[in-house]
Amino acid sequence: MKLLLVVLSLLLGAAQCSGEGCGGYPSNDPCLPGGVWDTVLKRCTGIDSQPCYQCYSGDYCKTKEDPLQCKLASVGGNPVYLSEYWTGGHSTEAEPCTQTPGHYRPAYQGNHYSTKVEENIFPPLKEAILQLHKLTGNAETEGYFMVTGMGATMVIHSALAVISKRILQECSSSLEVCPTAVDVFAQAPYYPGYIFISSNCPNTRWNASADPNSPFTIEILTYPDNPSGVKRNPLVMDPSRVVMDMVYYWPMYTEINAKLDHPLMVFSSSKHGGLAGTRFGWGLVKDKDLAVGMLQVVDGIMLDFSIDVQLRVLNGLQVVLEEANKTQTHNFPFHEFGHEVISSRFKGVSDLFSSCPGLSLTNQLSSTGGYAWIMCSAGIMANGSCEQVLERVNLYGIEGSVFGAMDNYVRLSMLLPTVEFDTLFLKLKYLCSMLG
Ligand SMILES: Cc1ncc(COP(=O)(O)O)c(C=O)c1O
Repeated sequence: MKLLLVVLSLLLGAAQCSGEGCGGYPSNDPCLPGGVWDTVLKRCTGIDSQPCYQCYSGDYCKTKEDPLQCKLASVGGNPVYLSEYWTGGHSTEAEPCTQTPGHYRPAYQGNHYSTKVEENIFPPLKEAILQLHKLTGNAETEGYFMVTGMGATMVIHSALAVISKRILQECSSSLEVCPTAVDVFAQAPYYPGYIFISSNCPNTRWNASADPNSPFTIEILTYPDNPSGVKRNPLVMDPSRVVMDMVYYWPMYTEINAKLDHPLMVFSSSKHGGLAGTRFGWGLVKDKDLAVGMLQVVDGIMLDFSIDVQLRVLNGLQVVLEEANKTQTHNFPFHEFGHEVISSRFKGVSDLFSSCPGLSLTNQLSSTGGYAWIMCSAGIMANGSCEQVLERVNLYGIEGSVFGAMDNYVRLSMLLPTVEFDTLFLKLKYLCSMLG
């Protein structure tokens, strides 16, 4: 396995380049810490096309704005903190640096409309993912098929499409009165992206109050939850109608206290590797017919899966696996880095809120997830909106109702780059002193 990865690296020129020279990235990034040098645009950048990280501006992002006056949105799920593993010099290995020669695998990868689900993923990537699960101990892989898609989003979409079609076909052959679409729900508070996914599937519709006991209901269970970090049991008892969204079931976000073996488990390089823009997710699927069906849905959308995407994910995994293999205990320095960042951020907010009148952090520190799920007491809210309380210090989160909860809750992302999180923390501190 290890030899295969090394040979592949050499073949592709996907060598693990040192920070200097890797794609032209300067060894001393002039934009840090207020931004990052974009090697293609040849200027500093932040997130979402911004010229710098939030609350930084000016030449090379060197101007730090007034942390209480500047506006800071902590609304997305961009896992940018993980890229600091590479830019911050934490890695003992060199940074992953995929450089694919022009001649390499230009053809379709040959798996389109294939029923050979085993062939739908580049073999060394499949091996790397299997090894990642094995060493992390978060999911059973023995006896599972792997289906890939552009992010967990596409994998979940393909699962909903196949499961709902099956349910409706079974119904129509039983002469029962059948619904026109299958209900999809998730327990509140839920990740709102499911509303869009299920609304765009031909045979499903989002119904937050669907009956979990109905045979025409599919549940998506986020484990641990976004936004609350809670690990819940499904309400739908038939496991073939439960999609386990486990994109946060990694040591950065929660204790890995069981190797799960649900029939359908979904993961993503977005939250594990910090590669949200690369768009790669995978499902571990027990039922071969379901896996084949999902593969056909994915192929029907994009004919074949991008080799470049797979190479970038593979290259990152090669480095983190290599590091883990070097430690006696197979601990992942990459996971430890992520865990340290996320847990210290939550600990900071939790300590702060322990003496902050009206604000409380509801996440458990052993299973935080990636977001602070904050509750406001009635006394500090003018019109029932916790989000508006944060706006008093120019901090913007997402109100609870977006997640199917009440607006006395607000979600803040803990996945921000360090300088943005530091500003967020200062704002919370100031808010607490205002409320005190
Ligand atoms: C619970 C959950 N599932 C899925 C996704 C989307 O993942 P991907 O980027 O792999 O499509 C997110 C993104 O925030 C998420 O929080």
